[in-house]
Amino acid sequence: MIARISALLLAMTSIANASSLENLMPVPANVKPVDGALPVNADFTIAIEGTGDPRVSAAVDRMLARWGARTGLAFRKDAKPLVAIRWNQPAPPIPTLGEDESYALEITPTGASIDAPNSTGALRALATLEQLLDANTDGWFLPAAKIEDAPRFPWRGLMLDVCRHWQPMEVVKRTLDGMAAVKMNVLHFHVTEDQGFRIESKTHPELHEQGSDGNFFTQEEVREIIAYAAERGIRVVPEFDLPGHATSWLVSHPEIGSKSGNYAIERRWGIFEPTLDPTNEQTYALLDDFLGEMAALFPDPFLHIGGDEVEGSQWKESAAIQAFMREHGLESNADLQAHFNSRIQQILAKNGKRMIGWDEILHPELPKTAAIQSWRGIDSLVAAAKQGYSGILSNGYYIDLCHPTADHYLNDPLPPDVDLTDEEAARILGGEATMWAEWVTPETIDSRIWPRTAAIAERLWSPREVRDLDDMHRRLAVTSRRLEELGLSHVSSIAPMLRRFAGDSATPADLQNLRLVSDIVEPVKGYRRGKQQPHANQLTPLTGFVDAARPDSALSRALVRQIDDALFSGRSIQPVVETLTLWKAAADALRINDSSPRVAAMKPLFDRLSEVCAIGLEAAPEVESGTKDAAWRQAQLSTLDTLSEPHDACELPFLPAIRRLVVATSLPRQDIPPAQWREQVEALSTPAAAKR
Ligand code: ACM
Repeated sequence: MIARISALLLAMTSIANASSLENLMPVPANVKPVDGALPVNADFTIAIEGTGDPRVSAAVDRMLARWGARTGLAFRKDAKPLVAIRWNQPAPPIPTLGEDESYALEITPTGASIDAPNSTGALRALATLEQLLDANTDGWFLPAAKIEDAPRFPWRGLMLDVCRHWQPMEVVKRTLDGMAAVKMNVLHFHVTEDQGFRIESKTHPELHEQGSDGNFFTQEEVREIIAYAAERGIRVVPEFDLPGHATSWLVSHPEIGSKSGNYAIERRWGIFEPTLDPTNEQTYALLDDFLGEMAALFPDPFLHIGGDEVEGSQWKESAAIQAFMREHGLESNADLQAHFNSRIQQILAKNGKRMIGWDEILHPELPKTAAIQSWRGIDSLVAAAKQGYSGILSNGYYIDLCHPTADHYLNDPLPPDVDLTDEEAARILGGEATMWAEWVTPETIDSRIWPRTAAIAERLWSPREVRDLDDMHRRLAVTSRRLEELGLSHVSSIAPMLRRFAGDSATPADLQNLRLVSDIVEPVKGYRRGKQQPHANQLTPLTGFVDAARPDSALSRALVRQIDDALFSGRSIQPVVETLTLWKAAADALRINDSSPRVAAMKPLFDRLSEVCAIGLEAAPEVESGTKDAAWRQAQLSTLDTLSEPHDACELPFLPAIRRLVVATSLPRQDIPPAQWREQVEALSTPAAAKR
């Protein structure tokens, strides 16, 4: 059985045998394959012919080290150069918004060249070149090709929340390595929150001393992060979330809160009352010191002030704040927040910074130099662009919510039907994936960021028309392996987590079964995990089965494809039967497993998996004949309703396909056009709750 599971897993997860040119992610703007290949052997080396930017040479060294690990070849420095890298001018050492990232890469059987207007383009070209290393039985090679490439959007970011769960230096660095590999160019560094003040202040050290449990970045470390990012062509935009999400400030400075009293670091998740007092001059005095200090520390012209989810009750309940609002003609909390932002704007302007904030900062008072980060919907981004504001999209890129890659991938900051003039459209600068950290630790964060963020990176870099989901998933599997070679642990972290979870008496078969089930199930999506685990907070270990499970299960996706191919494309149902048989066997073994109390506590999940597989196995042989009756169908659908309940925040993502299988067995297809039959299957299989 174990051998069979392994063979099946291998078959389902092996990477399709495509040329490395067809595996590129993000897809370049223009790729022309040419016959032939440039051999990569021990004589292979690269010559830097551009001047004035040591970053390119460092990037070449990193690439050759990784190629060395993969090929087993020791690349020598003194060999005859086969790749020439040239650029017209060095890019500024600290990356800037809108700099030219274009490049041309040409590979012939006798050599290769990279040409770029500036050295940042050379860095992007190297990210492409690295992905092109290919092999056949004759050895390693680069496929001959002509590539001309440039990004669609200038702002391609990832927001990293290092506050709710502390994420130390090694997480930040390996995340930057992954970003560079897929040509992302902005690290949005979310460093203050209710749950932690994660950056050293020299003007007000009490802020980090009392607000961080000792987990914060020193300014020296921040400079190290900025340098590490810049070395990879990545900007660092810091966020100080104001005036809400600010409990950790108030631990040391309760006097600037909107309600008097003592404050403690928040441990729970949610939207909380503590809010800075916008009517108190002490608030601005502190912010003037702190933001001035941060403006000097972070070289990027943008400084993110948060601005999201101001809870508002402290403002409503304070007689002094209400009196201030009346006196200043401020009619709503939104007006008061705009007043606050205008004061912050003065501080930023004085320090030469441009404001960016979440879409709540959009207000008639907001100066047009500010930029909007839309998290609540693309509409606010479009509205901002119409009003003259620049902006970036994050709505639809919330990777913390564990949605499938496809959803993020198809989410476009500038969809073809958007009602904007060219001038307005040019204000949409790109987007950012957001890694909020309620449910991630350094051990699990990679599996929430990667590989899905690579698909978002492609949406932001590649031409709009690049949207084929099958092709994206195929290339994402390749990219995922490359990302692990960079030091990311989205796959390699799972086995040790499961060993710890299973306990010392777990057998290899137990571990194999747990691995299979963890590869099938997914964490619940959206904000459901908090409802499933209402008592979890910052102090709760995130070492459960759900933490080993990952979003967008490739195994479940493959089964869904097998089912839909059998139902709608005339393929055999046999692969479905084989898959469900294996999954049921693993679930059945785990149902009676008592290797650890934690495994035993997951029995309801294993029960559900087994029962769903059993229903699928009962339905499968009847798919052709369609002779099950409606009463049977209703009974199975009703059981599947129950089985769709998550257990401990884990759910079975392929269950809707089993519903289609069940419905298909009771709908004879003779005399009905296939498209109509499919429509009926889909309509009847959709649960009532999902139709509303
Ligand atoms: C946010 O998700 N509150 C920006």
